[in-house]
Amino acid sequence: MKRSLLEMLVCPIDLARLESFEFGKDSEEIEEGILHCSQCRRWYPILEGIPRLLPDQYRGESEVELLRRQQNRLPEEIVRNGKPFNLLTTHVSPAAPDDKPQIFEMELRNRSAMKSLRPASPHKAAGDCISLIKAETVLRLLQPQGDDRILDVGIGQFPLYVQKLLSRGTSIVGVDFSIVSLKVCQQLGYPWRENLHLVQGHASHLPVASDTCNKVISSQLIQHLPSAYNRATAFQEMERVTRPGGVFLLETLNEHSFTRLFRRKENPSDYGKKRPYLYLYNKSELLDEISGSFEDVRVCGIYNFYPVYIMWRRLFKGNLSNRYLARLDLFISRFPLASHWAGALVAKCKRKRISLCK
Ligand SMILES: C[S@@+](CC[C@H](N)C(=O)[O-])C[C@H]1O[C@@H](n2cnc3c(N)ncnc32)[C@H](O)[C@@H]1O
Ligand SMILES: [Zn+2]
Repeated sequence: MKRSLLEMLVCPIDLARLESFEFGKDSEEIEEGILHCSQCRRWYPILEGIPRLLPDQYRGESEVELLRRQQNRLPEEIVRNGKPFNLLTTHVSPAAPDDKPQIFEMELRNRSAMKSLRPASPHKAAGDCISLIKAETVLRLLQPQGDDRILDVGIGQFPLYVQKLLSRGTSIVGVDFSIVSLKVCQQLGYPWRENLHLVQGHASHLPVASDTCNKVISSQLIQHLPSAYNRATAFQEMERVTRPGGVFLLETLNEHSFTRLFRRKENPSDYGKKRPYLYLYNKSELLDEISGSFEDVRVCGIYNFYPVYIMWRRLFKGNLSNRYLARLDLFISRFPLASHWAGALVAKCKRKRISLCK
């Protein structure tokens, strides 16, 4: 973790600034350390270069091992009185959060993806038409500039759009719940390590200071949050961290598409068992959800021939002809009607500017 990232990290519970205790030697990078909130007395580990800023209910007792190992270099206040647990008191987990099984499920999937990842392999999604459409849409709507610091909520496993944004010189702060995904990002994003910052965090408790990011993106995350309350708090958090006037880009699956042929609008019964929880938004719902906090909301539809792309992917993996198919999709997505059948919806909006005069 770069020391400069400290400027924008906060305690996910009370949004207070964090003090750092570092155990490595490098002056710029913090490989291992503790972040401490003097307001609520919580401490958070930095392990393998990734700050772990999760709310209490998602934290594991195993983190205390770091306190034990480094107790001589830390103040008593953390070692003996730190929250939510320390060397004297054990972790009393609050009531199990309803999205925990979902997250574990996600972790397992990510773990299996990690196994198939070879360190020197070219980007796994580079020849994939679906990733190409998403990447081109993100570039067109986000208009990245060299001095942008973009926050990606639910960054996943180094998607193609992240690689393209980094190649344009922007810096990205990627937040994800899954440490496995973050490690994949660390590995694949190594050539861009100066500009890629990774943080373990929860979308409904973002460990990011308010009004800090001029561009925020969240792709394919919101549909996996397993209740209306969870999704609403995630939207509020994404609004909070966007600067007034800043841009917010959201991508999510579309209810009004062929997906409805084999997926229900919501799958609570499968939840945490067979596949991740899924909630399908339609255009008007998405507009309602976003318009409360953001203005200038525009929604378009992408992945207009999704089933074709899936077959295409199998037949012509890595083939250049993906580009033509992707271009056709991008052309169609400019027409408002596309949002009635497209596989996914993309919403672009701006955070409302707070007017001082009434
Ligand atoms: C389907 S992937 C999308 C990844 C990437 N944004 C993309 O478009 O390819 C969803 C990601 O969201 C993460 N995630 C799920 N629930 C989360 C939560 N509550 N907070 C933060 N990340 C979460 C998962 O770990 C996973 O990496
Ligand atoms: Zn705090």
